[in-house]
Amino acid sequence: MKVQVYDEASQIGKAAAMLIAAKIITNPRCVLGLATGSTPLPTYASLVEFYDKGILDFSTIRTFNLDEYVGVSRSHEQSYYRFMFDNLFSKININPDNVQLPNPISANPEDDCEPYDAAIEAAGGIDLQLLGIGNNGHIAFNEPCGVFPFGTHIVDLTESTVEANKRFFDSIEDVPKKAITMGVGSIMKAREIIIIATGKAKAEAVWSMINGEVNPVCPASVLRLHAKVTAFLDREAASLL
Ligand code: GLP
Repeated sequence: MKVQVYDEASQIGKAAAMLIAAKIITNPRCVLGLATGSTPLPTYASLVEFYDKGILDFSTIRTFNLDEYVGVSRSHEQSYYRFMFDNLFSKININPDNVQLPNPISANPEDDCEPYDAAIEAAGGIDLQLLGIGNNGHIAFNEPCGVFPFGTHIVDLTESTVEANKRFFDSIEDVPKKAITMGVGSIMKAREIIIIATGKAKAEAVWSMINGEVNPVCPASVLRLHAKVTAFLDREAASLL
């Protein structure tokens, strides 16, 4: 894993966006894996800026998002679907038909998992996956557990994740307790991965990812087994390294 530490969180957005931009320029039909959360917002803002300046054309790329809440409709202001349109897709020339997010709408949302992995495979796999990291070391919604979950699956969110997400909802009761998420295997199949982390709250998770054992107790630690990962960190997130 290549680790790059920056003085300012704002520099990380630009650095990650430049790597994504290089991928799009060299392969205009590339498949990107995208993430939600506060950390990627500056990355998306930089991508929009590159588009506004005429540097990037998104018209032929395809995207797959990592995860989505179960029981939250796509029109809900906290759905990840809405997040992606509000912060990126509505601001660039991406073809909405080329955009996919997991959509747990079946009576049994487990039925929506396998088709998502199949769609990624059918698109030729993910060329570049963008990731954030949870305070507890989760990637996408792969929470700390006993074994690395392989494919897309339904997950019960941990107390720590529900707590971290409550800032987006009126009350803790409103925070979804279940999600659909790409598995660790789906993520590890990406040809290249960028993981971004900012702020003190991420310092322990970042330490475990880089220095701890490769163990599903810190799901992000699995990234050390991937041949092409770059971690972009600010000084606070890197403070325990
Ligand atoms: C959620 C998302 C993750 C994201 C994490 C961290 O749990 N499912 O993909 O990495 O939040 O979010 P933030 O960047 O807001 O700290």
